[in-house]
Amino acid sequence: MKRSTAKKSHGTRILKASAGRLSDAQLDAAAKVILGGGLVAFPTETVYGLGANTFDGEAVGRIFDAKGRPHDNPMIVHVASIRDLRGVVKKIPPTAEKLIKRFWPGPLTLIFEKSPAIPDEVTAGLDTVAVRMPSNKIALALIEKSVPIAAPSANLSGRPSPTNAKDVIQDMKGRIEMIIDSGQTKFGVESTVFDLKSKTILRPGAVTYEDIKKVIPDVKVFKGTTGRPSSPGMKYRHYAPRAKMILFEGPNAASMIEEWKIANPDAAVLSTLETAIDKRFNGNIFLLGRHGRPDIIARNLFSNMRRIDRLGYDLILCEGIPEKGIGMAVMNRLRKAASKIIRK
Ligand code: TXA
Ligand code: MG
Repeated sequence: MKRSTAKKSHGTRILKASAGRLSDAQLDAAAKVILGGGLVAFPTETVYGLGANTFDGEAVGRIFDAKGRPHDNPMIVHVASIRDLRGVVKKIPPTAEKLIKRFWPGPLTLIFEKSPAIPDEVTAGLDTVAVRMPSNKIALALIEKSVPIAAPSANLSGRPSPTNAKDVIQDMKGRIEMIIDSGQTKFGVESTVFDLKSKTILRPGAVTYEDIKKVIPDVKVFKGTTGRPSSPGMKYRHYAPRAKMILFEGPNAASMIEEWKIANPDAAVLSTLETAIDKRFNGNIFLLGRHGRPDIIARNLFSNMRRIDRLGYDLILCEGIPEKGIGMAVMNRLRKAASKIIRK
């Protein structure tokens, strides 16, 4: 097996997958880094993750340094089998069994009571642990070859999650041992985080509210912003581009953007295709996707924000979309990224 697909880059080795797979030699190399206490950025079906051996508190601790992440924000344990799951949780309640049967492997993260085997670095001292089984083939193969992998998204803290290897390299080159490049991710927004005890969606994500409701009819969605956050990550400004972003919501969003764009001709516009065609903005247009295709909008959302940042814009005028299906996750991320929300 030739090593030509691996190249060194400021100490960070980059492995290029082909057709969504790694060779056995590449997989062995990645598993060796994880088992040796190192950090590997790897693709999942949602966004790229920054992984370490779940059972190695010191290795997990290095993730916080690489990301500049606050230490009170716990991360997700990624498993490849129900046997793995049993090793990281106290018990598997019936609600979990139902959800696992329908949605795993896939982008649904469940909050369990944690096993004592999980170091505090993973859970930020909580007695619960977030677990999901990703459906991405490389992620599954890497976990199978090594151990359950604790991983947050592979971005610098506060920045939009990376949905392609170029964005991972931008944030993580020189900070971690290895990056697996497998092109663009499928969903583009992170997994849905569901608390089993309260039957509440803590973070809307790639598995929709409508889909969960079919399995758990009394599912709730966490809306609060004050008090002790039930998902610790929710108290930080997140997913944010460097530019100031104004989010326009409601039926007049398109005409409000039109007015603002006339007053701020150099602003970037992030809008649906229909609005861009209808309003004929004078340039600096970035397309979310078509109306009625929130799946496409989700897939391109974070990479659009990062592209706008790289081009050096100071102001983004962004159009909101309906909160249906994966649109709920899109709006959740847009509201967190926005410096200001205007709704008329
Ligand atoms: O799709 C995803 O979920 C990606 C990929 C890599 O799997 N990961 C991801 O991780 O988005 P991260 O760290 O960016 O977000 C994890 C979320 C945070 O909002 C965190 O607060 C929440 O899960 N979380 C983790 N452990 C928790 C716990 N024990 N209780 C409540 N929320 C928890
Ligand atoms: Mg994240």
